[in-house]
Amino acid sequence: MSSVMEGGGHYNAHASAQAAAATFGLDVVAAAAATAPVGPGSAVVVADYGASEGRNSLAPVGVVVDAVRRVHGEQQPVWVFHTDLPDNDFASLFRTVADDPHSYRRPGVYPAAVGGSFYEQLFPAGSVGLGWSSIAVHWLSAAPGPLDGFWFTTATAVQYEVWARAGAADWSAFLTARAAEMLPGARLVVVVGAAHGDGPTRRSGAERSMDEVARGVQALVERGLVTDAERAAMVIPAWYRTEAEWRAPFGAGSDLVLEQLELVDIGDPLWRQTRDDPAAYPATVAAALRVSFGPSLLAGLDPDRRATVAAELFDGHLARAIAAQPPEPWFDWRLAVLEIAKPR
Ligand SMILES: C[S@@+](CC[C@H](N)C(=O)[O-])C[C@H]1O[C@@H](n2cnc3c(N)ncnc32)[C@H](O)[C@@H]1O
Repeated sequence: MSSVMEGGGHYNAHASAQAAAATFGLDVVAAAAATAPVGPGSAVVVADYGASEGRNSLAPVGVVVDAVRRVHGEQQPVWVFHTDLPDNDFASLFRTVADDPHSYRRPGVYPAAVGGSFYEQLFPAGSVGLGWSSIAVHWLSAAPGPLDGFWFTTATAVQYEVWARAGAADWSAFLTARAAEMLPGARLVVVVGAAHGDGPTRRSGAERSMDEVARGVQALVERGLVTDAERAAMVIPAWYRTEAEWRAPFGAGSDLVLEQLELVDIGDPLWRQTRDDPAAYPATVAAALRVSFGPSLLAGLDPDRRATVAAELFDGHLARAIAAQPPEPWFDWRLAVLEIAKPR
């Protein structure tokens, strides 16, 4: 099972909703960067947790470098570690950092990568001066158990308890690893999808699309392109947390302090981005869901069938279904923006 995004430049090309989400953390991360302590090699070490192909990291890292250099001077070395799972397309990431006209790349800024799970410690103890993570921590370390469907809102009451416990354990594990890596005085800014509601009303804001994808899977089963067993094994290991769940690990005895948490309802960035060309909305949504959720949903299929099935399911079924409905937004995303500090 894998939580990585579609590679080959496709995630970068179709992740404009995630780019829009990250903008809600830019002021917070710029302020946090201004207080970032200098670490190994006299560099400020910046860790970007769950970078994918890197395009959406360019703006946040750019504001971080600017803020660090306003405080420490234009010569201040900055070491930027983009982290992701080992199967991530790191080649696309380094190409993006090297070539993109909006890259943060400049003399004295050193891009690097770490291939490993952010549920484990990824850096030497006390080395990270500033952490950033955008639209990544809703991915669990693994699917904690079966679901009636493939999206967490299809859980039965018993399944829900299992997934909620796994969501809590993973968030604690993420913070424990960061607490070890961060220098005293360092900050970590997390921008991530959050839940509306709780219990039976908990939802991510993507349910209408996920229900349509489920109908698409059923249609592919009927056409013989997907087997019943493959459909039964499909699961997306994502969990959208409530405010209480984000806050739960902090408090007495915690190594980290939650300095601020803001919930922001951002609606549907793709709807706004296609305002001047509404006919592009269905294909835009289909590609966005394909690059983000296609790889994990279709991980149980033979690798040589995945691309065809993904195209049929998302670019075919989902795009047609959206185009057939009255034009309106299909998402109401909610973000949590968290600023976390390791006390000096
Ligand atoms: C939706 S992408 C976000 C990419 C980028 N930060 C952005 O805002 O567009 C989520 C990323 O988190 C990564 N990810 C998921 N689980 C992870 C884990 N346990 N450790 C490290 N990265 C993980 C995925 O591989 C993916 O690249």
